[in-house]
Amino acid sequence: MAWGQQKLFEPAETCAMCHTKIPAPAGAKAAAAVVGAFPLWAGSMMAHAGKDPYWKAKVQFEGDTTPAARAVIEDKCMRCHAPMQQYPLRAKGELARMGALNPEGAEGVSCTVCHKIVPEGLGERASFTGGFKINTENEIYGPHKDPFPMPMMHHAEQFPKEGRQILDSALCGSCHTVITPTLNAAGKQIGEFVEQAPYLEWLASDFKKSNVTCQSCHLPVLKDANGAQVEQYIAHMPHMGAGFFPPTRPRKPFGQHLFLGGNAQMLRVMGVETAGRAEEFLRGAVALEVRGRVEKGVSELAVEVFNKTGHKLPTGFPSRRMWLHVRVKDAGGAVVFESGAWDAVSGELVGAAARQEHRDRITRGSEVAVYEAAMKTPDGAPTMSLLRAAGYSKDNRILPLGFVSNAQIAPVGVAADADFKAGSDKVHYSVPVGGPVTVTVEALYQSVAPAHLEGLAFQMTGHRAPVVMSSLERVIR
Ligand code: HEC
Ligand code: HEC
Ligand code: HEC
Ligand code: HEC
Ligand code: HEC
Repeated sequence: MAWGQQKLFEPAETCAMCHTKIPAPAGAKAAAAVVGAFPLWAGSMMAHAGKDPYWKAKVQFEGDTTPAARAVIEDKCMRCHAPMQQYPLRAKGELARMGALNPEGAEGVSCTVCHKIVPEGLGERASFTGGFKINTENEIYGPHKDPFPMPMMHHAEQFPKEGRQILDSALCGSCHTVITPTLNAAGKQIGEFVEQAPYLEWLASDFKKSNVTCQSCHLPVLKDANGAQVEQYIAHMPHMGAGFFPPTRPRKPFGQHLFLGGNAQMLRVMGVETAGRAEEFLRGAVALEVRGRVEKGVSELAVEVFNKTGHKLPTGFPSRRMWLHVRVKDAGGAVVFESGAWDAVSGELVGAAARQEHRDRITRGSEVAVYEAAMKTPDGAPTMSLLRAAGYSKDNRILPLGFVSNAQIAPVGVAADADFKAGSDKVHYSVPVGGPVTVTVEALYQSVAPAHLEGLAFQMTGHRAPVVMSSLERVIR
């Protein structure tokens, strides 16, 4: 293809040529020995968005649930998960189909998707639900001034250019605000449903005010032990280890393309090596505190859970849940109370119903503090279909610090709980046993609550157990 012809997207392989072999600079606390954009991105869920077996099975499920709208549904589901395939079809008015999923689609959220999004309209409603627009003049936007353009023009036929929108949370918000139509059985739209809203949650938090962006947490900048930014070259000569283009210099900030999130389980399913990194990231998402006293033979305990993320916890896809596993032992070491035990094979709670209302006060083991968003149909019935859902019957996901509510993202079912507030929640446990008692609390994260797997072609066998995010033991007298 001659220079000057419009090229919307490029496979990541093209970019890998010069954005791979970049060693972590001396003195930096880096996530890996090699911090090039390509290898880090390749280990992320976004690089797998078009291969994800859960996504594929869910698209099939939605089509089976509402067959009249199958073609439109498939196109919609490929919009953010397979954007390099779906986007070019938009202009032609054609629908992307799962049966035709090609290697470009399967590459998921690749380099040239994020780096070619133009600033126009970002943060506005039209940009949500994958409404981003791609540059048509072969430009690649990055955070730095005056990039040396020749190598990219020669080898990728793309022109690197400063474009500050890459650092804007609204760029992420384009795909991380998912507002879907509510369909009836005939496939007709009868409403809409805010399915995922990390960006809107972030906008309503203190993180927006203090300009701690999605990028700040999800592409951590290279820093030394004192927190000072460390610089590094951002590109190397094609296929050559440490050779850098003579006119270029190390730059900062240098963002690490980790895109870590909570989905360690799916990375394990797909055999991606970075699952351990995601588990580590999850451990930084929450903090726990336990206080209490023993009075008249009853142990009164208060477990407080703090959200350290920039949005609700959990956020994102509605299959996520977090719960508290609380065990109380008497002075002799016998377990006298347990709430939130689970079965590692089924991934389900043990001794308690899967469906739990929001709990402020817990007195029996069958009551569990589960933080989640549960979908309901327009009639109020529980549903697992994203496109039949009209809202939530429960949304007690822990709010981010400074959260100011609004209609789109208001919590549901927590009104009676005075200590469910911005940044944290407190759960009270009463256990009829005298002190001293030893209390163990674990916060557990599960990417896919088992109920979400019902009726799917994908069963997630062997990977259903939750990840322990945090644990704590205290003696209460
Ligand atoms: C506007 C962009 C967008 C559209 C459109 C979209 N998704 Fe997603 N989807 C996402 C994002 C972002 C995530 C990741 C959120 C997270 O990790 O919490 C996701 C995650 C998922 C997951 C969870 C994957 C996992 O490994 O846990 C499933 C399943 C899924 N989507 C199915 C669908 C289906 C079915 C459709 C079509 C009805 C669809 N998506 C359309 C953005 C989108
Ligand atoms: C999900 C969006 C997204 C994807 C996908 C993505 N990037 Fe980036 N990229 C960013 C953001 C955001 C920054 C700015 C990071 C910062 O400075 O904080 C960035 C920065 C960069 C930089 C400047 C150096 C640095 O790391 O700060 C280069 C080079 C780069 N990206 C190349 C790539 C390549 C090559 C790929 C594919 C292998 C890729 N990016 C995939 C969002 C993305
Ligand atoms: C032949 C080598 C080469 C290839 C191939 C290549 N790049 Fe680059 N890239 C560079 C060089 C050189 C720079 C400029 C470095 C500098 O000025 O410090 C750069 C800079 C960048 C920047 C930073 C721009 C800025 O202003 O912050 C981004 C983003 C980027 N490349 C993305 C990509 C993407 C996406 C691809 C694949 C389509 C790609 N590159 C392919 C060599 C390459
Ligand atoms: C083109 C759409 C798109 C854009 C733009 C985008 N994302 Fe995503 N992102 C997705 C999809 C789709 C997934 C879900 C992949 C899956 O689970 O199958 C996802 C998943 C994620 C995850 C979840 C990882 C996990 O383990 O659960 C994180 C974190 C994330 N994105 C961060 C970002 C950040 C930060 C930005 C902005 C710099 C961004 N994304 C921009 C589409 C996008
Ligand atoms: C203060 C740091 C922080 C900020 C700011 C932040 N996040 Fe996160 N994010 C986290 C942590 C920690 C997790 C892991 C816990 C979890 O999954 O909720 C996470 C998880 C996620 C997930 C994965 C949820 C899942 O299903 O596993 C997505 C998607 C995501 N963030 C997107 C975003 C977007 C988009 C923004 C900006 C609008 C953003 N984040 C801002 C820290 C942050």
